[in-house]
Amino acid sequence: MAVSITSIAHYLPDNVIPNTYFETYLDTNDEWIKSRTGISERRFENNGSTSDMIVKAALDCIEKRGIDKNEIDCVLVATVTPDFMFPSTAAMVQSKLGLTNAWGYDISAACSGYLFALATAVNLVKSGISKKLLLCGADKMSSIMNMNDRSHCILFGDGAGVTLIEEIEDEDLGYKDQILKIDGAGGKFLNQKAGGSSQPATIETVKNDWHYIYQDGQPVFKAAVKGMADVSREIMDKNGLKSEDIAWLVPHQANLRIISATADRMGVSMDKVMVNINKYGNTTAATIPICLSEWHDSKQMKKGDNLILSSFGAGFTWGAIWLKWSMD
Ligand code: ACO
Repeated sequence: MAVSITSIAHYLPDNVIPNTYFETYLDTNDEWIKSRTGISERRFENNGSTSDMIVKAALDCIEKRGIDKNEIDCVLVATVTPDFMFPSTAAMVQSKLGLTNAWGYDISAACSGYLFALATAVNLVKSGISKKLLLCGADKMSSIMNMNDRSHCILFGDGAGVTLIEEIEDEDLGYKDQILKIDGAGGKFLNQKAGGSSQPATIETVKNDWHYIYQDGQPVFKAAVKGMADVSREIMDKNGLKSEDIAWLVPHQANLRIISATADRMGVSMDKVMVNINKYGNTTAATIPICLSEWHDSKQMKKGDNLILSSFGAGFTWGAIWLKWSMD
């Protein structure tokens, strides 16, 4: 049975924050940020939570497919910035959209969240458990960023991407293969120290800024360059794909230098790589579905295109998925 993305939409907040914003109060500058990361601006959501961003994209996604919302039978949300620790953001989305026939849950895999959730979604549909699954990747990173820590506050942005996952008729198209990996030894380099059961919230944890992102950039950068590049090459070799067979590399948008290294290792030229990090920064679980949605909207993909989706994030988590695009 073939399973694929059958509708796609995204939401980005209107509030654009240029690099020069940080220059006004931090020891950083536009030139440093652009040359080290590829980022020129990002967007922050001032008017709602992660589920609110998802709802906006989901309404568009459902409308584009032309189905009744009550046909959706499952909601998966990949995020590290849930509305609450519990209930799940999937429950918030279900309730706000009024999806009376759906169940669902959240998946936490940071920047690899959309890929891990896509692998789960495909198998829920293949097994017959779900027929129309709403797969969401969304993060409101501005809610956990320390705006006084220049080592990470310049990197992230907010956004949401929503896809519908269903069975399709053409056996040749849709999801083809995956290689997904996790290594918790990398957790010490990129994390949110407090707020969980290991370090519950106290006055001290708040004073110590332990509810914000902590990132030791260099080891994460090195692991990301190797992890994303290796796994993207591995999925090509495993499936006998040559660089000329790849229509688009769809990389997680964390740093333009990590993206270029991955493209290099795959032998794919940069004109076949989806890049929008310059406009949105790193929106964590949303980067890959936002790229797919933008490129679909601007008709840059065609049915049958081989796509390699590739990610690296906190955990460490990383991986690649091979898709044959199935939408017109
Ligand atoms: N502005 C100006 N200078 C800065 C800034 C800044 N915003 N941040 C750091 N610096 C300084 C440092 O203090 C250092 O100065 P020093 O040499 O005097 O000590 C110098 O710039 C170089 O710092 P590095 O950390 O070595 O810079 P690097 O080239 O590694 O870039 C970056 C930092 C952009 C964070 C990079 O390491 C990176 O992209 N890391 C990976 C991020 C990533 O992929 N994360 C995973 C996904 S996120 C998720 O899963 C939630």
